[in-house]
Amino acid sequence: MVSDPDRPTESSGADLRFSTTARRAVVIILSVVLLGLGWLWWDSRVPATYSLAPAAATGMAHPAQTSHTDQVDVTGLQADPDRPADVRMELKARSATLRNSNGGSFQGYTLNGSTPGPEIRARQGDMVEVVLHNIDIADGTTVHWHGVDVTAAMDGVAGVTQDAVKPGGSFTYRFVAEDPGTYWYHAHQVSHEQVIGGHFGALVIEPGSDERPTSDVTMLMHTYPGGSRTIAGTPGETRKDTAPGTTVRVRAINTDNVTTSVWVAGADPRLLAVDGRNLHEPGVVKNQRIRLAAGARADLEVTVPRDGAVRVQSPGVSLVLGPPGTGAPEAPTPAHELDLLSYGTPTAVPFDVAAPDRAYDYDIGRRIGFLDGRPGFWWTINGRMGRHVPMYMVREGEVVSMRITNRSSEVHPMHLHGHHVLVTARDGRPASGSPWWVDSLDVDAGESFDVIFLADNPGIWMDHCHNLPHAVEGLMTHISYEGVTTPFLLGRDSGNEPE
Ligand code: C2O
Ligand code: CU
Repeated sequence: MVSDPDRPTESSGADLRFSTTARRAVVIILSVVLLGLGWLWWDSRVPATYSLAPAAATGMAHPAQTSHTDQVDVTGLQADPDRPADVRMELKARSATLRNSNGGSFQGYTLNGSTPGPEIRARQGDMVEVVLHNIDIADGTTVHWHGVDVTAAMDGVAGVTQDAVKPGGSFTYRFVAEDPGTYWYHAHQVSHEQVIGGHFGALVIEPGSDERPTSDVTMLMHTYPGGSRTIAGTPGETRKDTAPGTTVRVRAINTDNVTTSVWVAGADPRLLAVDGRNLHEPGVVKNQRIRLAAGARADLEVTVPRDGAVRVQSPGVSLVLGPPGTGAPEAPTPAHELDLLSYGTPTAVPFDVAAPDRAYDYDIGRRIGFLDGRPGFWWTINGRMGRHVPMYMVREGEVVSMRITNRSSEVHPMHLHGHHVLVTARDGRPASGSPWWVDSLDVDAGESFDVIFLADNPGIWMDHCHNLPHAVEGLMTHISYEGVTTPFLLGRDSGNEPE
């Protein structure tokens, strides 16, 4: 039906009236939404500079922070300044155009002219002194000793324990190598770029001289931008001539942002240590792969057979140990993963795991919102984002338990600085094997881990995801000891950007 165009009908007049009201309503709703979004954006922005020191960081500390103890500056938390060094090294950090294993080039970093940087070796009890020189890295740089429970002043986190070292500047790190084991070091300024680009190296603390020396080999695995995986920069196979019958401790280190695994062809290994802590009575591992979270280490004991070689494998790379001319065939990735929750046998731990002084939740989620003024799909901790995530407050001497729950659909390799945590349960199932101490723990999608630690190392410690782009996207917070302050600043005008 067609109506006369010159004669408005009842219904079109009603439409006209309705649309005026509707337009008004839409404008009002839009304004409210825009104002709301604007407020969320404004509220998410971090100040130009800010401090993690509780006094200056109103609203950031956890409500549990109540005591009025004397304040200790984080820079004072260091080893005896008069003790001479047993191991000393200069590290010259430079930016450089580098070539990856596929022939492409990338903007990367070198330490003393190469990447990875030199392996640092110390004996248990040694005073280690490393002088970092930033030759020309425009963003500034630092060195963090991943997995080494150093004193807080030496932790190398820009904006928390020091300022990023500017081009032409230097910083001296000094720490006592207390716990033997396999570690690594890397930049903790703009770490998501500097680490993948080559600013890292291995650090091995050998046991005290009373222990029988063993042959040991480092397997430092890394993927450079655009390249394939490497062991100490070499893609594919790396060989080390080793006499038949030799027992070797292979120190596997995962410096990538993602999980990897290792397994052995030609012999059955034992897993001696994880994250720089020996396991108790580790058994022979048959046809199982050993997982390494991002940042994690695994020490494997392998014996070179009488009549050939042994191959320690990881996707894309392998380490072959044997006499010249021998080889070991590759083995497919074992279908089963070794479960550390029940590997080895139990033994005493230095505190009562049944009676923690504090129990915290570290709930990982994700949602749409603003992080530091940028809209996106960001990680959340206990439902909060960015500067709204409270720091976890602890007191020296406390036993602190934490339940890490991953409510997202991606794995998160959770890394606490300055401490090793003991895994007590996974998805409610209690640990039944060797004490399982970690500093880098993969929490799979949907999984939850109960961990516990002794707060015996005062400081302000990062507790973050070691998939470093996730840390940039908000999966980062701190554990802070009551009374510890920092003079260093974070925020866009501070020059410090630890993630
Ligand atoms: Cu490998 Cu926050 O560090
Ligand atoms: Cu993550």
